[in-house]
Amino acid sequence: MKLLGIETSCDETGIAVIENGRQIHSNLVASQIDIHAEYGGVVPEIAARQHLLTFNAVVKQALKDAELELHHLDGIAVTHGPGLAGPLLVGVNAAKGLALAENLPLVGINHLEGHIYAAWLEDIPDPEVNPGFPLLCLIASGGHTDLILMEDHGRYQLLAETRDDAAGETFDKAARILGLGFPGGPAIQKMAEHPHSPEAKLPRPRVKGSNDFSFSGLKTAVLHRAQEKGWYPPTDCDIDQNELAGVAAELQEAIVDSIISRVVTASKQHHVKGVVLGGGVAANSLLRSETTKHSPVEVIMPRPVLCTDNGAMIGAAGWFHLRNSAKHQWDMDVVPGLRLA
Ligand SMILES: Nc1ncnc2c1ncn2[C@@H]1O[C@H](COP(=O)(O)OP(=O)(O)OP(=O)(O)O)[C@@H](O)[C@H]1O
Ligand SMILES: [Mg+2]
Repeated sequence: MKLLGIETSCDETGIAVIENGRQIHSNLVASQIDIHAEYGGVVPEIAARQHLLTFNAVVKQALKDAELELHHLDGIAVTHGPGLAGPLLVGVNAAKGLALAENLPLVGINHLEGHIYAAWLEDIPDPEVNPGFPLLCLIASGGHTDLILMEDHGRYQLLAETRDDAAGETFDKAARILGLGFPGGPAIQKMAEHPHSPEAKLPRPRVKGSNDFSFSGLKTAVLHRAQEKGWYPPTDCDIDQNELAGVAAELQEAIVDSIISRVVTASKQHHVKGVVLGGGVAANSLLRSETTKHSPVEVIMPRPVLCTDNGAMIGAAGWFHLRNSAKHQWDMDVVPGLRLA
């Protein structure tokens, strides 16, 4: 079964052709990062208009790369939430148009479920059996930091979430304070790789009596550190790059420590058979190596390009929804605040 996966929940037009939820025939992402970079974050109206401009060309190219035409497909899966309303509307309505034109089954996918199903696109022997359920899924992205217990396909239980900022949001906001640009995660990771002197510790906030995350205190601590060093508000003075790299490395370590301690606690508490990483922050190299080092069970990590938003993960999740019954969700609407569990 070949599906077109469509992702437009934020600032990436992601279109992919996926077979049987696992095989990638094509996977294209038209990123708007350069357009939004000058604003230091995503501007929803601009993002929606940009999806409109790029959508048809990206679909055509994805089909061409897969050496297929629209009528060869068996269905369409599209993100219908959570995300930005305008960008979601573009993807959902375009998906309805394509499905109607070829009378194809159409299914709406939760973006977070997509981040989880990116793991099924990896070359593991048989992810339904190996490592098997229950799985602990960490979704660490621009808008979410959730620990989810996946008991089976489609059965999710929310174990912990962030009480304030998401991990990706913390990277992005801290990078803005440190003058490192947008998106902040890759910029901080790159800066942390520079030679640096050790930096005084930043806090690893905990929520009393809970495994929930909290990152806003860490973000404030970075702001205070930047103010103490005279880096913020931004000035024309030269910033010592060794010192800047030290702060970036300490911030990255603080975020990774906070995540890993909770992943380890939850995986032991719930006797999971494996851990799945997903969402843009799962592309972080320190998070990937440290999770593998500390997790008591097998860790499944999609390649970095499948951690950030893409259409392949939506096509993968769509197959698990459509494989047993053809659906035509003509009445599907966007749900910007959609929850998974
Ligand atoms: N190598 C990296 N290290 C740390 N963070 C990263 C890295 N690469 C990307 N990110 C972060 O990932 C986030 C983007 O991830 P993603 O595309 O999944 O978020 P989103 O789709 O905007 O949010 P959500 O999935 O919650 O709706 C950004 O905050 C970015 O800084
Ligand atoms: Mg995302």
